[in-house]
Amino acid sequence: MSTPEGGSGLAGAGIAPPGELRSHQGQLPNPGDTPSSPSAAGSTPGASLAGARVPGAPTLPDPLDPIAMTSMLGRLANEMFATPPGAQPEMPTPAIGGAPTPAAPSTSAPVSSAPPVSAAPSVAAPPVSAAPPSTASPFESPLNFDAIAPSPFAAMFGEGAPLGELFALSLPLVDAPIAPSPEPVAQPISFEAYEIAPVTDVSLPRSIRGTGPLDAHALKREFPILSQTVHGKQLVWLDNAATTQKPKTVIDRLSYFYENENSNIHRAAHTLAARATDAYESARESVRRFVNAPSTKDIVFVRGATEGINLVAQSWGRRHVNAGDEVVISWLEHHANIVPWQMLCNETGARLRVAPVDDRGQIILEEYEKLLGPKTRLVSFTQVSNALGTITPAKEMVEMAHRHGARVLVDGAQAVSHMRVDVQALGCDFYVFSGHKVFAPTGIGAVYSPGALLDATPPWQGGGNMIQDVTFERTVYQPAPARFEAGTGNIADAVGLGAALDWLSRVGIEKVEAHEHELLVYGTERLATVPGLTMIGTAAAKAGVLSFVLAGQKTEEVGGMLDKEGIAVRSGHHCAQPILRRFGLEATVRASLAPYNTCEDIDALVAALHRIQAGRANPR
Ligand code: ALA
Repeated sequence: MSTPEGGSGLAGAGIAPPGELRSHQGQLPNPGDTPSSPSAAGSTPGASLAGARVPGAPTLPDPLDPIAMTSMLGRLANEMFATPPGAQPEMPTPAIGGAPTPAAPSTSAPVSSAPPVSAAPSVAAPPVSAAPPSTASPFESPLNFDAIAPSPFAAMFGEGAPLGELFALSLPLVDAPIAPSPEPVAQPISFEAYEIAPVTDVSLPRSIRGTGPLDAHALKREFPILSQTVHGKQLVWLDNAATTQKPKTVIDRLSYFYENENSNIHRAAHTLAARATDAYESARESVRRFVNAPSTKDIVFVRGATEGINLVAQSWGRRHVNAGDEVVISWLEHHANIVPWQMLCNETGARLRVAPVDDRGQIILEEYEKLLGPKTRLVSFTQVSNALGTITPAKEMVEMAHRHGARVLVDGAQAVSHMRVDVQALGCDFYVFSGHKVFAPTGIGAVYSPGALLDATPPWQGGGNMIQDVTFERTVYQPAPARFEAGTGNIADAVGLGAALDWLSRVGIEKVEAHEHELLVYGTERLATVPGLTMIGTAAAKAGVLSFVLAGQKTEEVGGMLDKEGIAVRSGHHCAQPILRRFGLEATVRASLAPYNTCEDIDALVAALHRIQAGRANPR
């Protein structure tokens, strides 16, 4: 039996589809088994990512948890559908990542034995190396395995394949096979386990230049939601990368709109239509000013960064990306900046290539540059990683891509609330962000792109508002931005976005940046005092994110225990599974910062984590 799109061929070739677990050496622990914390396999900083395991990594899915069980069944099913060892491997479909299939490695070797970085000897001091193949389980005692994945490099690249090659990306787009019955779950199952060699120096530059002190306590008082208690404890909101809270001024602006201005826009002669249109278009001007775009014609309102990326993929991408072309992304990307490109590549026969990151979570620029060439049609990468906080060298990466004639999209979803964004200085062709990450409502965001480029791009959705003239024979579209705003948009929340950006500009984005950096330094140092805590993502340039795992604790349970203390963090994969798997993990606990956070918030988090590690906190 084979999976669609050559799945069995991949399995037979020893190349697991992205994200699938392939090899088997441990034992499924019994519920209640005590997790062990094996020491790091290697002590050389920056070495031995693969073949290593985060001490105390979270556990196998709870057999009573339906989501975890589904995931487990999917893995089992993939194993069942895989070609047996020794079977003739099929070639992966060349449509995407259509590089020649690497020589099939021996199926008896663990996938982690193919050190991908060694295939790129020109990388200076490559930080990642595979663990030596081992026939013995690295662990003697039952373990928690939830966070463990085989080397993503080995899983995605064949031995000797250059970095950045992705094989058969059509696979993640098909439904996972449904397991015929749940019985196999009860059987012992095993996974290869890995440990991260800890990066010993997690220090950040102590301070960065700001424009004066920021009174975070006063700022916090502008956010009504932050004054409440949760489970009897003062709320500490450290889930800002998921969504930010809204200042009173934004909430008031929304109320004012509905109480005084609400109307559809552009379409009527009456007073409220004029008010609503003015409010909407003045919000567009606020966005323009905030990102320093030359014209409001360059600003398209969308639902958020995800819709912005899909807009570019489905409009510009479908027009300009053809079979044999290449789209380059980075390993840091949020799913929103992976899946739309997979879909486009699947549709067009283009190939998706991925720039790798080092052990700190920094894009390896030499490897990124090697992926660029005459076939590169588009590069799309994040300015700040939502899972790790890495700030990418965006301007440099845009320039490098432009030297090869590629267009560049920068995903600013996690950047806009933390740093000054200047799209002209950045020089990108598309910039997208979501309002709710920058103190505005959900369901609104923006795409920046030079108006001339937008005017030369076909619309992606048809309907009212985006047309100049319609007959049954032909339709004349509006110029940008209206040509991309079919239907009645999210008028009130666009107005709210304008209010949020104006508010943030009044606070001062440089002040915010300096304040958050101090908090990040403080938080990094204080978290280092928590026993068994491993920080994930230690880039020299970081913004707003403290992502970590705790030895002996399941990430979701840590999240639950922190919630009991009134502290909101996100635990999970943060919609960025590939980058977590790059670190051998399925989940982290993520505390993420905003200007209203204070040192006391960090202290509350650290104290709670100490209690958790001392066994003095109760799981939910
Ligand atoms: N992208 C959001 C996050 O990082 C949801 O949590």
